[in-house]
Amino acid sequence: MAPLHAVVVSFPAQGHVNPLMNFAELLGMRGFFITFVTTEWMDERLLKAASKDAAARDRDVAERGLQFRFLSIPDGLPPEHGRTADLGGLLLATQKLGAVLEGVLTKENRSVPPITCIVSDSFLACTAQVAANLGVPRVIFWTCCTAYSIAQTNANFLLSQGYIPVKEDDLKSRDKLITCLPGKIPPVRPTDIVSFYREQHVNEEIYGAFLHESRFQNVGDYVLVNTFEELEGGKEAQLGLSINGCPALAIGPVSLPNFLEGRNSMYSIWKEDKTCLQWLDSQEKGSVLYVSFGSIAVKSEKQLHELALGLEATGYPFLWALRFDIVEGKSVELPEGFRERTRDRALLVSWTHQLQVLSHPSVGGFLTHSGWNSTLEAISLGVPMIGWPYFSDQFINCRFSKDIWKVGLDFEGVDADEYKLVTKEEVKKTMRYMMEGFISKEIRENVSILKEAATKAVTEGGSSYVNFNRFVEDMQNMSK
Ligand code: UDX
Repeated sequence: MAPLHAVVVSFPAQGHVNPLMNFAELLGMRGFFITFVTTEWMDERLLKAASKDAAARDRDVAERGLQFRFLSIPDGLPPEHGRTADLGGLLLATQKLGAVLEGVLTKENRSVPPITCIVSDSFLACTAQVAANLGVPRVIFWTCCTAYSIAQTNANFLLSQGYIPVKEDDLKSRDKLITCLPGKIPPVRPTDIVSFYREQHVNEEIYGAFLHESRFQNVGDYVLVNTFEELEGGKEAQLGLSINGCPALAIGPVSLPNFLEGRNSMYSIWKEDKTCLQWLDSQEKGSVLYVSFGSIAVKSEKQLHELALGLEATGYPFLWALRFDIVEGKSVELPEGFRERTRDRALLVSWTHQLQVLSHPSVGGFLTHSGWNSTLEAISLGVPMIGWPYFSDQFINCRFSKDIWKVGLDFEGVDADEYKLVTKEEVKKTMRYMMEGFISKEIRENVSILKEAATKAVTEGGSSYVNFNRFVEDMQNMSK
């Protein structure tokens, strides 16, 4: 019998490719034939960062016993377009990719089994029509937390109720709790939901693009979320994403089983610096601050300087993943003499293998932009955080980390005004709270409980493990 064939389609951004590739590998290990689709731009970046060509990558997956084929499609944008630096433009471009995607999937290829399902990133509205035309189930995969996913799916409803666009100056409506969303999730505030719906960000085109996505996040046959039940409201929370009663299951953290079993399944668009682990080996247990803002967030030059001076003032050793494009439109310049003054206790690199870093015993805390992958990775590996959200779903991740899961801190006022300058004194003070004293003890205890719960969830008999098996069985039954 031909193996089941899942077509996994990822939105072309780091925070999406990583969880979808990890998920695809897990399916591959269960005997699925996988077609992994992303854009040509993304595929080239992934290959370049891994210093591989496509043939070497194909050999690698085959040696691991996986049946994979990688397809890449043009995104229709000019070469000079910033892609993830202009996320709105990129989202608009992906909304027009249905015909191209369908074209590559229907091109006759006798060595490929018939398609069982399309596993679509939740931010790829175009796959709804493709799945319908091919007559296969559309599985919606959320790379964000459940509460955010529910809010985004219901964006048009929130618009009709006047919650969005979020009125920045009207404190009463801005902070009003939204209790009318489905699913057992903690109440969210308008400022928690995607930042593109905040007045200060509203750009008609981007705003429209997110509302358009929302209409198709409710068109599908199965829903999967990269989270785990013990973190987000048990089974009932995910049910808020169910479409006409279809299963909606938490199956994450999807990167954890691969990592725990020693498979190097991180897919980066930046080249990883290999020196950090040796450097971490030379540091004391729990002493190092790890600083990283994911793949998209940017900071002003003034802010970067305050941060650098704050890190210097803490006196702790620190590992800083400092992308060269962190300051929009400018190269990175740090305060004069900073590198020399901190040389004996700091390592600055452009990109790390974040799971390896977070699992290293020397790492004692994480200053993060609160991207969902970073948040989930820190929780899974038991590292307390300071959240410093930049955009999108990062505000809700940061607030939940601080107020609901109590595994992190934040800089005061950033949730209301992300352009607020965080001073070096605030950086120093908050770092201290995270690294030592009563608050530190409390958040460390909480995060280690959740670490254990995450590990349990993905191991045999655990909630995500069971849900993943159910998904595999349901796909087997649907294909009969
Ligand atoms: C984006 C959004 O910001 C995020 O909120 C959304 O949920 C998914 O898309 P990004 O900003 O890149 O992603 O952040 P994040 O979700 O944290 O993903 C970054 C990924 O890159 C993580 O898996 C992290 O482990 C990895 N990473 C980051 C590295 O491997 N090395 C680094 O140095 C930094």
